[in-house]
Amino acid sequence: MTTESQIILRPGRNLRGSVSLPGDKSISHRYAMLAAIAEGPSRLENYSTGADCTSTLRCLRSLGVKWERKNDADAGNVVEVQGSGPSLTASVEPLDCGNSGSTIRMLSGIAAAQNFSTELAGDESLSRRPMQRIIAPLTAMGAKIESDNGNLPLRISGTLLKGIHYAMPVASAQVKTCLLFAGLLAEGETIIEEPLRTRDHGELALRAFGVTLDRKGNETRIRGGQRLRGIDARIPGDISSAAFFLCAAALFPESQLTITNLLMNPTRARLLDILLQLGLRISVTQLEEIHGELVGTVQAEGGSLKGATIAGADTAALIDEIPVLAAIAPFTKQGIEVRDAKELRVKESDRIASIARNLRAMGAQVQEREDGLRIPGSQRLHGAELKSFGDHRIAMAFSIAALRAEGETMLRGSECAAISYPAFFATLQQLIEN
Ligand code: S3P
Repeated sequence: MTTESQIILRPGRNLRGSVSLPGDKSISHRYAMLAAIAEGPSRLENYSTGADCTSTLRCLRSLGVKWERKNDADAGNVVEVQGSGPSLTASVEPLDCGNSGSTIRMLSGIAAAQNFSTELAGDESLSRRPMQRIIAPLTAMGAKIESDNGNLPLRISGTLLKGIHYAMPVASAQVKTCLLFAGLLAEGETIIEEPLRTRDHGELALRAFGVTLDRKGNETRIRGGQRLRGIDARIPGDISSAAFFLCAAALFPESQLTITNLLMNPTRARLLDILLQLGLRISVTQLEEIHGELVGTVQAEGGSLKGATIAGADTAALIDEIPVLAAIAPFTKQGIEVRDAKELRVKESDRIASIARNLRAMGAQVQEREDGLRIPGSQRLHGAELKSFGDHRIAMAFSIAALRAEGETMLRGSECAAISYPAFFATLQQLIEN
């Protein structure tokens, strides 16, 4: 267990400079899992440095997969995986998924198709998060899963799965990916319908590893039994991590920030539209496609911030960026309203409650609703004692709000930023103009 640390945050000024960020967390998890069940070696450059993606690698090692980290000054954090093919080896210990919802939900799709049983567990936060959303469809495919009323630990008795046609009740890319992975290892065809379009890294990663799948509207079809070939890849920088710096830049009219090698996948880049709408000046150059993923350089210049409403499909597309957008909302002119965001209550913390609690501690007016928030604009905030609630995105979001508060802020539980971005505070310091 990590001991709790705290950090003092002081008001800041413009963000200036150029950075390239560690690899996207969503893509890192998927590439590691597919590299594990592929044939031949894979080399994953700029693999996410976050603890969550290490949880995925550790679980894979427990399932008999061989991988090594290589340090390379140019290629960032490199992971070389020796593919095991579709059949893995039973783990003697329960798999520890740590804080990572992606690890447990997506890996369950692979574990359910093995000819052995796997137990999966995680930390206190993960143990509170809903797993029925994967238990129901994997059970329909033939797996036997025991849980504590839909919570961890999960005991999955793997089997030869059968393809299904499943309409997902919740918009979740983790669930979609879990079922595509299970479908890949199942007999027959699997058809997944999602209520809203969610991030498509699962589909793109499967194609990169040589799998054929069809996508029409919100429906994806995959045929079981296809073989995967290992790949060499450079993982684009994490746009959800970039969101903190872009929102920080937006707080100061003189900011000039460049982020190179950044993920620009259209199912993730809605953030840029919202920031443009708020008033940040943004240009994207050097767009290229790597293994189906769009990558580019983003240049952002501060301006004055208007307001925005985030609802419906936008909420699903911005689900990981809402904490930081909410944290800068008081500094916009008209404020920000977030609707249709019930899912935020079952993330690493109840994010609606965590955001409202910290904003109020800083003196802000906030309306908290069951499925969202209304944060009026043109407010002045003061430094305060804040909590991360053990949630990496809350820790980073409020480090940004603190830059525009009056006086110092003390953030308790700041260490959890390492779940997705260990170098966050160091990079933020480096970008803030002195
Ligand atoms: C993710 C999907 C989202 C997101 C999470 C990563 C993924 O979760 O919040 O950080 O990589 O598929 P849900 O699938 O629960 O919406």
